[in-house]
Formats: sequence, structure tokens, C-alpha cells
Amino acid sequence: TSNQMWGGRFAAGPDAIMEAINASIGFDQRMAAQDIAGSRAHAEMLAATGILSDSDATAIREGLLTVLSEIETGNFHFSTALEDIHMNVEARLKEIIGEPAGRLHTARSRNDQVATDFRLWVRDQMDAAMAGIEALQRGFLAQAEAGADWVMPGFTHLQTAQPVTWGHHMMAYVEMLGRDHSRFADARARMNESPLGSAALAGTGFPIDREMTAHSLGFDRPTANSLDAVSDRDFALEYLSCASICAMHLSRFAEELVIWSSAQFRFVRMPDKWSTGSSIMPQKRNPDAAELIRAKIGRIFGANVALMMVMKGLPLAYSKDMQEDKEQVFDAADNLMLALAAMTGMVGDMTANRPAMAAAAGAGFSTATDLADWLVRALGLPFREAHHVTGTLVGMAEARGCDLPDLALEDMQSVHAGITADVFGVLGVENSVASRMSYGGTAPAQVRAQVARWKDRLG
Ligand code: ARG
Repeated sequence: TSNQMWGGRFAAGPDAIMEAINASIGFDQRMAAQDIAGSRAHAEMLAATGILSDSDATAIREGLLTVLSEIETGNFHFSTALEDIHMNVEARLKEIIGEPAGRLHTARSRNDQVATDFRLWVRDQMDAAMAGIEALQRGFLAQAEAGADWVMPGFTHLQTAQPVTWGHHMMAYVEMLGRDHSRFADARARMNESPLGSAALAGTGFPIDREMTAHSLGFDRPTANSLDAVSDRDFALEYLSCASICAMHLSRFAEELVIWSSAQFRFVRMPDKWSTGSSIMPQKRNPDAAELIRAKIGRIFGANVALMMVMKGLPLAYSKDMQEDKEQVFDAADNLMLALAAMTGMVGDMTANRPAMAAAAGAGFSTATDLADWLVRALGLPFREAHHVTGTLVGMAEARGCDLPDLALEDMQSVHAGITADVFGVLGVENSVASRMSYGGTAPAQVRAQVARWKDRLG
């Protein structure tokens, strides 16, 4: 039999495979609440503008609430023959309230309907992502506050560079996540326009009130061009792009956790609840959750690329290609939220191994830059010469298998006669970090200032 929603000109129903490729109900049922909210706003507006009678509007409103509760309680039969969430809801509404259901679709198309539903869904996910990011920021902030002066090695090229503080490292992630949060906030502000009332593509001849529906759905204003509104998926792409960058940040910390929890580093210990064992190697405590977070960027950025490819080259306005938008965004959103939650759990529960970090902080000639800086300050050497003198001293220590503070004063003086015993003051790790008082630097006082600023911002 032909389709009850659009089958007027059709004599035959679709091939089973046509139905399989065409249907989106298997996934777009996740937008049921948004679809019903959009329909309620539309019906109220149709009544307010006199396009729909008050009694029809009342029947529609009550019927939609019934449909919503059926869906929420799992008592709704989703039908593939009815293609998508929009037609499933409307068909059920018709079973419940009869003829007035057929008036709901006045001055509306599935094109503006799906654009509206999906915007509402993505907007919720932007809000959820921002809340998840803030929770993770609080976790890093608590770690930073506890360990503002715990020393650890800072790395470049994963080679020991200069000593830093644990708090400084934690606050770096608070900054990264702060940018992620503001990216979502920017994208949300840009996307918060209502496509509803754009109809199929050209607008409608009915005297609708788009301001009214925009307002009742929490949008700032209606979209300004109906062709653009039904063909735009920028908001989904921006969500995916913000999610990708955030997931990339999570992946970087995940990688650090993998490194830090290794037997070679032992900078952090994950409690049992965030570790997994091996079925053959009894000693293992594997950082599986961190590894999976590290991997999530693969599918999230994959979704971003996939939707970009779907959208490129589509002529205006709506094309069915665009139905492929949802699974990508749903999957990315589920995985971003899971990654944020897992990372928040791990950051809250991880324990820094202060002795291991302190020992590593002093190894690898980490205070060589401090020595060079001292030669500049105390002896007035040009930095390039100081660099050279220090390099010679590092070579000497390396040849003897010791660290810089283990060299005798006479040895140092054999490289540069002006060196005095004062030099040993800057070779200690604690002094090194305490000296880096420049704004944003690793000195504990600077880290505490960063913590205070963010505590203020996060409230
Ligand atoms: N299920 C469709 C989607 O997700 C809804 C819009 C269908 N519009 C149409 N003209 N066939 O994009």
C-alpha cells in the first residue's frame, strides 16, 4: 500500500530495500522529545494566528502529550514503514485524536521540522558538553590546588626540559578546556535561530508568526532565509568541530596518563576502579580507560569529516543526503560525553607520586637553563656564551655519570673561572621552579594565582 503521508500520487508501496535505505526511524527516534516540542510550538502558533481552531489546537496539544508519554514509557511502536520520527509521531497522533492531526502539518514541511528538531538536539548536547567540561575543569583545579608546589619534570620532545610544578601542568588543561567551553558557547550563540516556518524551502503563504515559535522554543530569533535554513547543517558541523578539538585535548591528557602510569614513570597511580588487569600477566595494571579516551578522537573527528563530506556539493535546498547527519552527531555526542565523564573520574581519583616526580624532576640536567641564566645574571655573560659554557658542563657531568649539582666547584671553574659557589643555589629543582615568577609561569605562587582566577570563574 502507498504511504499515508505522501502516497496520494503513488499506486505502489516501496521495495523493501527502498524502505531500508530510506528509513531513519532507527536512529532519529532519539529526537522524539524535540519533535514533539517543535510540533507543540507550531500548533500553538497556528492557533494564535487563526490558522487553526482553538479546539483543534487543544486536541493536538493533548494528543502530542500522550504520544510523548507513550514514547517516554517505552509504549510506542516505531514503524519503519513510517520512515522517520516526524511521520511516526504524526501517524500516532492521528490514531489518538483523528482528523485534527492532519492539520498540524499546515505551513510546515519535514524539511524545516527536521532542521528544528536537530538544532534543538544539538543545542542540548552543546549545553551538556559545556557542563561536562566544567566538571572536568574542577577536577584538574582540585589537583592543581593540592599540588601547586609539587615538582615534576617538564618536557619538550618528551625529553626532560625544565622542572615544572604539578599544579602548573594541571592548570594547562584547565586553560585548554576553557577554550573548548568557549568554543561551544560561541557555536551555541551562533546556531540559536529557529528554522521553523521556513517550510519546504520557500517559506509559506500562511500568515504564520515565526517570532512566536522561535521564542517558545528558546531560540533568539527566526532564521533569516528559508532556503538557507532548511539546507544548513553548519550547527552540526560546528558541534562536531568543537567536540573534535575537545576530544583531542582529552586524548592528549589520556596519553600522558598512559605514560605516567607506566612502571618507567610512576608519576601517577590510578586506583583499581580505573585500571584493568591482564589475563596472563599478573602484575599488570593497564590504563584501558585512558587508552579508550585517547582513541575517541578518532571516531569524533571521523564524524566531523564524514558530515563535511556529506554536505559538500549539495545544491540548495534540502537533499536526502542530509539524513546522514544524525548518526554521526549522535555517535560523536555519546562518545564525547562518555570520554568527559571517564576523564573526570580519573582526574578526580588519580594520585600523584610526589617522590617519583621529584626524583625525575632533578634528573636529566633539568636545571641547565637555570645555570645558563645564572651565568648571565651573576657574571654578565652573553646568553649564547652562557649556553655554551653550560653545555660543556653538562657534557662533563654526563661523562662522569653524575648530575649538574654533583660537579665540584673546581671542575666548574675549569670551564669558566668566574663561577662561584653561589651557582649551587640555582641548580636545585625547588629554586628553579620558584624562580619562574613571570606571569603564567610555573612558580607555585603563579600557579596559585591561576587557581584563584579559575575558582572565581567557575564559581
Ligand atoms: N528523515 C529526514 C531527515 O532526517 C527528514 C526530512 C525529510 N524530508 C524530505 N523532504 N524527505 O532528513
